[in-house]
Amino acid sequence: MNRVLRETQSIATLQAVIAASRTESATTTSDWKQALPVLTGSMVTLRELRISDATSLLAMLSTEEVARFISPPPTTVEGFERFIAWTHRERSAGNYACFAVVPHGMDTAIGIFQVRQLEPGFGTAEWGFAVGSAFWGTGVFMDGARMVINFAFDTIGTHRLEARAAILNGRGNGALRKIGAMQEGILRKSFLRNGEYLDQALWTILDEDWKQQRVVWGVRVH
Ligand SMILES: CC(C)(COP(=O)(O)OP(=O)(O)OC[C@H]1O[C@@H](n2cnc3c(N)ncnc32)[C@H](O)[C@@H]1OP(=O)(O)O)[C@@H](O)C(=O)NCCC(=O)NCCS
Repeated sequence: MNRVLRETQSIATLQAVIAASRTESATTTSDWKQALPVLTGSMVTLRELRISDATSLLAMLSTEEVARFISPPPTTVEGFERFIAWTHRERSAGNYACFAVVPHGMDTAIGIFQVRQLEPGFGTAEWGFAVGSAFWGTGVFMDGARMVINFAFDTIGTHRLEARAAILNGRGNGALRKIGAMQEGILRKSFLRNGEYLDQALWTILDEDWKQQRVVWGVRVH
C-alpha cells in the first residue's frame, strides 16, 4: 500500500472513531431539562429514574458496603420515591441530572450516576455514583461512567468535572483513577460521616483531556 493511501486510510479511521464516540451525544435530546436522554452502552442503559425504581434502589444502595462513604441514602421505599421525585424537579430546574443504571436484560435500576452544577451554567460540575455491590468489578461502572462523562461534556457543556471520594474509599478512588480522572489534592476533613470528619480526594476531568483520551481509546479499540 502506498504511503499516501495508508495515511488517508488512517485519517479516515480516526474520523470514524471520533464520529462513533460522538454517536451517544448525537442521539441525546436537544434539551435534557425536559427529559434525560436514554444512553445505551455495551453493558447498561442509563435513563431517567422512575418512581418504580425505588424498591430496587433501596435494596442496592442502602447496604453497609455501598453506603459507607457516601451521603446517607434514604432508608425506606417512600424515602427513595421522594428522592426520585426530587431528582425530576432538580433536572427540570436545570441544576442536576440523575441517571438510573439498568443492566441489559433488566428493567430496574441497580445504581445511579448524578451530575450537579457547581456554578450557574454547569461550567464546573460535580459527579457522583453508586452501584449495588453485586455489580462491582463487572465493568458496569466503566460503561456507565463513560456515557455520563460524555453527557456532561457534550450535552450539558461542562468543561471541568469534579468528584470527591473519601480517602478510605478504595474502590471509589480506584474507579476514578481508572476512568482517567486526575487527583488534584486532598480536601482535609471535608466530609462528615457517622459523626466523624473524613479527608477526601478531589478528582477532576477536563473536557479537552477527555476528548483527547476518547480518541486514544477509540484508536486502541480499532
Ligand atoms: C464506586 C463504584 C461505583 C465503583 O464501581 P466498581 O464496579 O466497584 O469499580 P471497578 O471495579 O470498575 O473499579 C474499581 C477499581 O478500584 C480498585 N480497587 C478496589 N479496591 C481498592 C482499594 N482498596 N484501593 C485501591 N484500589 C482499589 C479495583 O481493583 C478496580 O480497579 P481495576 O479494575 O483496575 O482492578 C462502586 O464501588 C460503588 O458503588 N461503591 C459504593 C458507593 C461509592 O463509594 N461511590 C463513590 C463515591 S466517590
